[in-house]
Amino acid sequence: MITASAPGKIILFGEHAVVYGRPAIAVPVTQVQAQVSIEPGSDELTIHATDEGRTYSYSDIDAQHPIATIIRLTLEALHQSPPPNATLTIRSTIPIASGLGSGAAVSTAIARALAQFYGCELATATVSELVYQVEKIHHGTPSGIDNTVIAYAQPVYFVRGQRLETFTVPKPFKIAIGDTGIASPTRIAVGDVRAAWQADPVRLETLFDRCGRIADQARALIENGQPEALGPLMTENQELLAQMTVSSLELEALIQTALKGGALGAKLSGGGRGGNMIALITDAREATVREALLNAGAKRVIVTTVGANAQ
Ligand code: PMV
Repeated sequence: MITASAPGKIILFGEHAVVYGRPAIAVPVTQVQAQVSIEPGSDELTIHATDEGRTYSYSDIDAQHPIATIIRLTLEALHQSPPPNATLTIRSTIPIASGLGSGAAVSTAIARALAQFYGCELATATVSELVYQVEKIHHGTPSGIDNTVIAYAQPVYFVRGQRLETFTVPKPFKIAIGDTGIASPTRIAVGDVRAAWQADPVRLETLFDRCGRIADQARALIENGQPEALGPLMTENQELLAQMTVSSLELEALIQTALKGGALGAKLSGGGRGGNMIALITDAREATVREALLNAGAKRVIVTTVGANAQ
């Protein structure tokens, strides 16, 4: 049996502005994973999606379905046809539709598992590109940050269309991720920001520029071993996102709760409106912030450590 996995992710700085060419920073979240196994069999390719509690045959799935799409694209990239006689089982602990990259992680794990099944090696850049093709079908105009951070499984400084830069984190730091429990399609928030940008390009470009500068400052602080100074930048980035109309009352409530509980900074992460907020926390405040977020209605709190070998 072949098994491959991929982590979840969070965007620390620069969501939305990244769609317009500004830099963003994202990190893998290894506490949650998508895992795909492939077992050879005598029947046609069967997909067992444990999350959905469903089993279906590859030939019956809608060709536009993300799972069908990544399988088709990967088989093409591997020059394999017809599909293998096998059972492909998908398991994931990454919450769906909450900005943790569950779709990109499932696609990444499928591409890797299929490559292994055929005894082939797919370059990480190729995996990332295949997953990007799937993201494009479902998210409209994705920047490519999700597939990149998940395929590389390293902190990334991402600028759309430019060569990927990973960076080191000499001093690990902790982020609490609080889920509003509200599923919010990224495509809609991205579409609304686009409409605002079309209506008032000068104002939106200014907001994007400020987000880009924050991402650059954040990277410098992380690389210089001063992650505790990221707090005010998170809060500043949150204000800009609110001006782009992608925050919400629920996100604001969790952000304020985290700050009152002693977080050094907090913001929404990803598409916004619902999904997750993130807060920079110290060890001393971890338990307090976690409990405060849960008491304030967070459906789930994940604490992740960003940094070399510490994830
Ligand atoms: O909601 P998420 O975590 O998939 O992130 C979306 C990030 C955006 O910048 C809003 C869109 C994008 O494609 O980069």
